[in-house]
Amino acid sequence: MKLSSFGEKFAGDSGIVGLMDDLGNALRENPDMIMMGGGNPGRLPQMEAVFRRRLDAVLGDPPQRHRLFGRYQSPQGDHDFRACVAEFLSAQYGWKLGAGNIAIANGSQPAFFTLFNMLAGEMPPEHLGEPAGGSRRIHLPLTPEYLGYADAGLTEGFFSATRPAVDLLDDHLFKYRVDFGRLELDGGVAALCVSRPTNPTGNVLTDDEVAHLDRLARERGIPLIIDGAYGAPFPNILFTPARPHWNENTILVLSLSKLGLPGVRTGIVVAREEIAHAFANANGILNLASGNLGPAVTLELFRTGEILDLARAVVQPFYQARARAALDEFRERLAGLPFRIHRPEGAFFLWLWFEGLPIGSQVLYQRLKQRGVLVVPGHHCFFGLDDDWPHRHECIRVSYVQDEESVRRGIGLIAEEVARAYGAIIPRRSGLQESSP
Ligand SMILES: Cc1ncc(COP(=O)(O)O)c(C=O)c1O
Repeated sequence: MKLSSFGEKFAGDSGIVGLMDDLGNALRENPDMIMMGGGNPGRLPQMEAVFRRRLDAVLGDPPQRHRLFGRYQSPQGDHDFRACVAEFLSAQYGWKLGAGNIAIANGSQPAFFTLFNMLAGEMPPEHLGEPAGGSRRIHLPLTPEYLGYADAGLTEGFFSATRPAVDLLDDHLFKYRVDFGRLELDGGVAALCVSRPTNPTGNVLTDDEVAHLDRLARERGIPLIIDGAYGAPFPNILFTPARPHWNENTILVLSLSKLGLPGVRTGIVVAREEIAHAFANANGILNLASGNLGPAVTLELFRTGEILDLARAVVQPFYQARARAALDEFRERLAGLPFRIHRPEGAFFLWLWFEGLPIGSQVLYQRLKQRGVLVVPGHHCFFGLDDDWPHRHECIRVSYVQDEESVRRGIGLIAEEVARAYGAIIPRRSGLQESSP
């Protein structure tokens, strides 16, 4: 097979595709594998019951059923659904939104692909005089970032990133902050992008950081893209106060996935009309139309505001309790080892930092996989960073959404392998024990 440049980039084996394959195949290779690597949300029976009730109602009503199965919507998405989401967000936050500000995508992942490549990459000739020599890039003001962005650019050198400031906190915690002193935005930057809460770290950019980024983006006439896959108003997996942010210069991308609907593939782009419309044009070429299932299942939840109650009363408390339990367990199991954990402020991962880790995160990942627990090695999340910072090889991302017993066992195995890596004593609940060779 002779691949085009596009084919080589997108059909080849990038590091991240390899990792995803590994994560995907792990359960087949070892059915007892403890899956602490993936981005699946937890199973919440109350949410599943609501989705089922809504789906039954749609299926039981012939016009709604036909609208679900029998129609292509416009490339921007079903007008009623967009109007309803716009009204919901306007009522919550006072943003001035109409249906024209909303575009529906088949998941937020492809929305990022389209948005990123719409804004960055090779620029048309009239832009060739700009400092970056005709191509522009997406800048991540804070790295590590969501590894799902890493290969989304059609051109090379698509991302750049700024190394964060690191605040060392009590109780083995730490927190990344945007280092505005290092943040340099030249004419080659097409847009800023942040996930808030951040995958992989569970960080939540403060309101001040967001306001500062917003100011910088507006001064330079570039959009600020905020990935709200875990944020407010839904799924609202936030453990710290954070004011949602949108204005005409912001592209906010929401998703139904972490609410418990990753299989329906619905992303929601909130942007000024010009951008939403441009996105819809591209979506028409790439997808013809977006799927109807997510809008069908959630329309009434938006209309009644029930989505907000569910996010606040069911989704958020579930993840917050899990975060606390996982944090406590790690503190106990890793006692005596040089570990730090990013303060869990949202999303559903713990980001662990093992300073001076002698084996690096890739080897730790492999050893953990052999022991039957899957995590994400952190070095993949520092793409765009042009700097050999040792820290990037000292971190792993651990999801805590599996059942509590599996999470406890997984944490125990991680602690054993980390202790072994440092050539240290394995911390055990019932006293200390020598590490295995
Ligand atoms: C930060 C972040 N953004 C976007 C996505 C993509 O989600 P989806 O395409 O299911 O909306 C994910 C998925 O894990 C994510 O973690």
